[in-house]
Amino acid sequence: MFETLTPPPADKIIELMAQFRADPREDKIDLGVGVYKDPEGRTPVMRAVRTAATRVWEAETTKAYVGLAGDAAFNAAMAKLVLGEAHDPARTASVATPGGTGAIRIAAELIRNTAPGATVWMSDPTWPNHPAILKYLDIPQTSYRYFDTTTGEVDFDAMMADLAGVQRGDVVLLHGCCHNPTGANLTADQWLAVADLLGDKGALAWIDIAYQGFGDGLEADAFGTRLLAKQLPEVLIAASCSKNFGVYRERAGVLMALSAKGTDRDVVQGNLNTLNRVNYSFPPDHGARLVSTVLDSDDLRADWAAELEDVRNSMLGLRTQLAEELRRLTNSDCYDFIARHRGMFSRLGLTPEQVATLRKEHGIYMVGDSRINIAGLNAQSVPVLARAIAALDG
Ligand code: LMR
Repeated sequence: MFETLTPPPADKIIELMAQFRADPREDKIDLGVGVYKDPEGRTPVMRAVRTAATRVWEAETTKAYVGLAGDAAFNAAMAKLVLGEAHDPARTASVATPGGTGAIRIAAELIRNTAPGATVWMSDPTWPNHPAILKYLDIPQTSYRYFDTTTGEVDFDAMMADLAGVQRGDVVLLHGCCHNPTGANLTADQWLAVADLLGDKGALAWIDIAYQGFGDGLEADAFGTRLLAKQLPEVLIAASCSKNFGVYRERAGVLMALSAKGTDRDVVQGNLNTLNRVNYSFPPDHGARLVSTVLDSDDLRADWAAELEDVRNSMLGLRTQLAEELRRLTNSDCYDFIARHRGMFSRLGLTPEQVATLRKEHGIYMVGDSRINIAGLNAQSVPVLARAIAALDG
């Protein structure tokens, strides 16, 4: 039977990881997959997470199943982290999921069950797994313009013009912060305008927040998510702990469904539990428990927040250094947007051919759409990248 299978569609990020690993050059530079790296190129276990692991290990007396929704302490701690004062437990149903991707998958299935035929609107561009998951589930999808490749900024007029076509009951997927892949983000005023538009349209807001704390700080990065949560009757929020807790391989994430007044929250919760059940039964617990241990202990939380702030500042420093270096070498301000972008990524605006040249001639790996992971750089490799870019034709 398996002989009938055809090769699956390629995922450009996963393909790039394999290409990088296979490259024997010692001085190769990995700006591909979104994983934080320190200046030595390591992806460290965060201090507070390591201490939490010891505490969990010492306190844990069983590995028996927890429950379909995962650990309630984790779900509550994440709701507080993401929603802050906008958190209203009476309208929030939530399940722990295997990473942010698991949350996106469960959200997509919930949408398919509750609003079959609704179209999901995604930014163009977006994280490639968004359209891939929706396509796999046969959910109608379309895109709204988002990024101005000439300025490296959000093309907000185009975005709003496209979103004017949203129909009642459609779903609009937004990146809560640190837009992946562009690095260009909405301002507070723009978030307000989007919230008004979605309210007027009667659309469901769906937020993917995978980089809280990597952009302008833990609170600032949650601004848009909290605003939509307060202003709109129904919101879906898929949050990942992979990056901001550095627990990538543990697969810790959460899906929150905020319902309108009059909706039975328990019924929503039951539906989320069932979606977990039919997909993988119980969500993974270890990463989630590390996260809630950190968030629920004052000492660990303070240490985690401080380390996260160092991570954020190191990426900002690299952004400034790269923008300055490119300004000097190209004698233009056309790459200044790199310093204005936030989060782990920036889309540079290079052609696929230029991206291929950087890979072949310099061993510099970035995604084919010229997305770089800024954390893949360090003070020594920034000038190498800048020189390679400045030397490109065209
Ligand atoms: C990325 O965009 O590189 C990360 O979110 C990792 C992934 O799973 O694609």
